[in-house]
Amino acid sequence: MEKLRPEKNTSPYATALADWFRTAARDLPWRRTHDAYRIWLSEIVLQQTRVEQGLPYYEKFIARYPTINRLAAAPDDEVFRLWEGLGYYRRAKNMLGAARIVVEKHKGQFPRSYDELLQLPGIGPYTAAAVASFAFDEPVAVVDGNVARVLARFFGYSGPVNAGSGPKDLRRLAETFLDRRNPGLHNQAVMELGALVCTPRNPRCDACPLKSGCRARAEGRTGELPVKKAARPVRNRRMDYLLSIRNGRISVEKRTDNDIWQNLYQFPLREGLPAARAKAARRLREAFGLKKPPHFAGDATHLLTHRRLLLRFWLTGELLPGYEYVPFDRVEGLSFPIVLRRFLAGIKNSSNFEFGTKKNFTD
Ligand code: ADE
Repeated sequence: MEKLRPEKNTSPYATALADWFRTAARDLPWRRTHDAYRIWLSEIVLQQTRVEQGLPYYEKFIARYPTINRLAAAPDDEVFRLWEGLGYYRRAKNMLGAARIVVEKHKGQFPRSYDELLQLPGIGPYTAAAVASFAFDEPVAVVDGNVARVLARFFGYSGPVNAGSGPKDLRRLAETFLDRRNPGLHNQAVMELGALVCTPRNPRCDACPLKSGCRARAEGRTGELPVKKAARPVRNRRMDYLLSIRNGRISVEKRTDNDIWQNLYQFPLREGLPAARAKAARRLREAFGLKKPPHFAGDATHLLTHRRLLLRFWLTGELLPGYEYVPFDRVEGLSFPIVLRRFLAGIKNSSNFEFGTKKNFTD
């Protein structure tokens, strides 16, 4: 763990917080380095992702691409395949874009300042502040969900943290609270406090190094703060996938639109079909010009931030003109959304399904 510099801290809480961090923080690989590439990679992987989920991906990426040059030289599809299961695929695309810019425009050296980091794709105020402070000790405060919760409680901030002037107010509070002598350590400590102690429910105030100054605790308001404006409602999106399987090959296409799962593979798709299965089967038959209705093979629900995807899978042995057919042993190497990969794995393992035989499609 990092050592505190000898200068006196600006706030009495900074020392308590740093002491707490040195004894209580999790030992995570990106905390053992000042390498901007590794720190940046960890932050991209961890955006909207829990540490337990992101950690194996971080390890996998570092093992495969130990330097930014190696990452920048990787084929897009290889990176998307490694990313599979982590979600929010735009992150993978931006990650590659940023790596290539750093290699081509910055000779493989990460820009060192918050302002320059902000110019790279996929790097917003949070990530720029994280990389600038963790790797280069630039005195700029990070604000993520954990930090916002800690600060709203500590300062007794009662406005919504995610609406109106909330984000700006929180950034100002964070800048006020920042220990400018040890910004990297301080930022990580506030984040870690939010993750381990100042949790959304049942915060462990007794263990908190900030407890003597915390307004929410003094006023018995830790249950009320932070105030959040309700998120947008989740809407349903129905997606019907038709798998055409012939001679050990399966119909696929690459998603290209500016939409979810951009650049990933999928099966022939129709959206917005009726909920009633018999009606949907008729519509699919018409849409793809099938001689017989397709066979229903299963369904799945997949939750995104603002969408609930209602997926159905259908099988046919008929040829679908205009689609690419790939052999099954090559499907493994293509990047699919995880919910489609799971369905593929399921039918591959199912004992009553044989790939590439007509048996599956006779009534
Ligand atoms: N979440 C996002 N960034 C993180 C970090 N550096 N350490 C722990 N959790 C995080």
